[in-house]
Amino acid sequence: MEMHERQAALAALEAEIRHCTRCPLHRSRTNAVPGEGPPDAPVLFIGEAPGANEDRLGRPFVGPAGELLEAMLERVGLIRDDVYITNVVKCRPPGNRDPLPEEIKACKPFLARQVRLVAPEVIVTLGRFAMERWLPNRRITRVHGRAFRFGSRLVVPMFHPAAALRRPEWLPLFQEDFDRLPALVDAVRLWRQQNRVPAGLHVETVEEGKPPAQLNLFGQEE
Ligand code: URA
Repeated sequence: MEMHERQAALAALEAEIRHCTRCPLHRSRTNAVPGEGPPDAPVLFIGEAPGANEDRLGRPFVGPAGELLEAMLERVGLIRDDVYITNVVKCRPPGNRDPLPEEIKACKPFLARQVRLVAPEVIVTLGRFAMERWLPNRRITRVHGRAFRFGSRLVVPMFHPAAALRRPEWLPLFQEDFDRLPALVDAVRLWRQQNRVPAGLHVETVEEGKPPAQLNLFGQEE
């Protein structure tokens, strides 16, 4: 798809999300929060659900968690306009409660379409709810910062920035995970060009719904 077609398709999808009535959250929201960023973003960040600030402004990660996310992006020479940022659930759950399974299910096709249109090199899941979409039944404390291969892209689970704010002992880990991002994006670009996983890149291959296999340095299953 040409870039202008992708841009138009993404804008149409974002408009569709703003008017969505697929689950009861549309009744309590001020604004739906589709997500934002360039259609060719190399990294797609996925959070949990909008909070009060996001609901008010209709934009993702604009409160304290967003400030930390922006500070992390700055560490690796990026600004938020360089990346696509969205959430598993596009409308605020009342009182910031956890999203319900039926709300996640109602929003799932939107996330799938965003992933397909943006086609990022790396998907970063922020927190448990986004991680569960690709890596169910994992513990974030065990898998954070690891690169999991899904087809020709990587999924890298990271702590949710709000959790890193609540638990200062996680902050250095969150920073370390972030610092590896540019190398992972470069590695995926190289791998797409050469059609093989670059030497030195440690990834674990996952077929959706199956447990991961370990890959050695050369991308071969061990
Ligand atoms: N937390 C999230 O998970 N998403 C947002 O957009 C803001 C805070």
